[in-house]
Amino acid sequence: MRWKLVIAMVGLPARGKSTMARKLCRTLELDGVHARIFNNGQLRRQLDPEERTSVAEFFAADNVVGQQLREQIARMSIEMAQAFLANDGQVAILDATNITKKRRQAITRAFQRVPICFVECLNADDEALEANLERKAALPEFQGMSLEKALESFVQRISHYEAIYEPLDDEPNRILVDSFDSCILQEHISEVLPYYDRIRDIITTRVVRNLFLVRHGETFYNLEDRIGGDSSLTEKGQEQAEALAEHFATVRIPIIFTSNHRRTLQTARPIADRQKPCSIIALPEFNEIHAGICEHLTYEEVRQQLPQVARERGPNKYHYIYPKGEGYVSMAERVHRGLKKVFYLNNYDENIMIVGHRAVNRMILSRFLSRQEEEIPYVYMPQDRYYHIRIDPHKRSFELVPYRSAPAAWAGW
Ligand code: F6P
Repeated sequence: MRWKLVIAMVGLPARGKSTMARKLCRTLELDGVHARIFNNGQLRRQLDPEERTSVAEFFAADNVVGQQLREQIARMSIEMAQAFLANDGQVAILDATNITKKRRQAITRAFQRVPICFVECLNADDEALEANLERKAALPEFQGMSLEKALESFVQRISHYEAIYEPLDDEPNRILVDSFDSCILQEHISEVLPYYDRIRDIITTRVVRNLFLVRHGETFYNLEDRIGGDSSLTEKGQEQAEALAEHFATVRIPIIFTSNHRRTLQTARPIADRQKPCSIIALPEFNEIHAGICEHLTYEEVRQQLPQVARERGPNKYHYIYPKGEGYVSMAERVHRGLKKVFYLNNYDENIMIVGHRAVNRMILSRFLSRQEEEIPYVYMPQDRYYHIRIDPHKRSFELVPYRSAPAAWAGW
């Protein structure tokens, strides 16, 4: 069984295992490696279309029937992975919690002739974890429950897992990954593993398959060239949102990330309504630059009433910090943190959409473009087009796409 490998994910629920599994699988496949995911949760839901096994009690340690069913599902996944590797499969990824030693020993016994690499996902960022729980509570698995009940049930499910959790310790090949920061915390590899360099690289690289970076539609403040605030969309802005919805109607977008400002939420709403199911996740990290004492003023009023601001900001826009407000330079960290949340929460979906603002979108774009800092505050960020960004280990592309027309350039992707 040369050049075959089992990657067994490990970790409590909602720690980013499935996102990591999908990223590994998809990128290995782009490299020509035949990889497949065997996901216990998905199998459970297929076997139980009425979702009776989604309730928290199913996962309790003293629920004998639940335990038996879960072990049976784990065995089925293992058998499917064995069959895959016995044929032309090269990398089988077991996507499940696998948090007990007993389960990991069963996996080890099942693949005696194929090396196994255990990859444990951790996430120490409470805010990101909470956002992930909310995203999970909105999944079809919990339909029929209120969001609050679903959240409660999911938190309880996690506590059942925590009660039996045994971290990796003496498994011969094990990696501990911070899935929020996309970095390796610890690794212990005791043999030559096929594809290992590539796997390390994939874990620590952010891959963007299709990122649609949209600026909100026209607002009343835009009409007057007014800075900041929380203005609503004008009629034209609403039409732009509808046109975006129409444009993206045939492109699957499971999550739209916005700021907390009205204008981005109002732009995202019609797009989300056309998708179904699609959740909108508002991240404060994507709020527009706070212009401090210049909030609500027009650029002309700033020139007249606060001439020193206009004088100082003009030639030094990136580093200038508005009195009592922010500057591009001081936004960098929070915008970067917002992007980390996006990558953590998006479940490695094919398409990601962010509806943001002029300055915030420039900062987001600058994370992918190699631009001089000084140029960032001048990047063109129109309201009738969006940036389509693609970055994978094989290519990078940025396209400014008008959304009134059909998405022909990438239809069928
Ligand atoms: O005018 C809209 C706006 O989003 C303001 O709220 C924000 O201060 C500005 O654009 C950012 O652009 P610039 O840095 O070019 O002033």
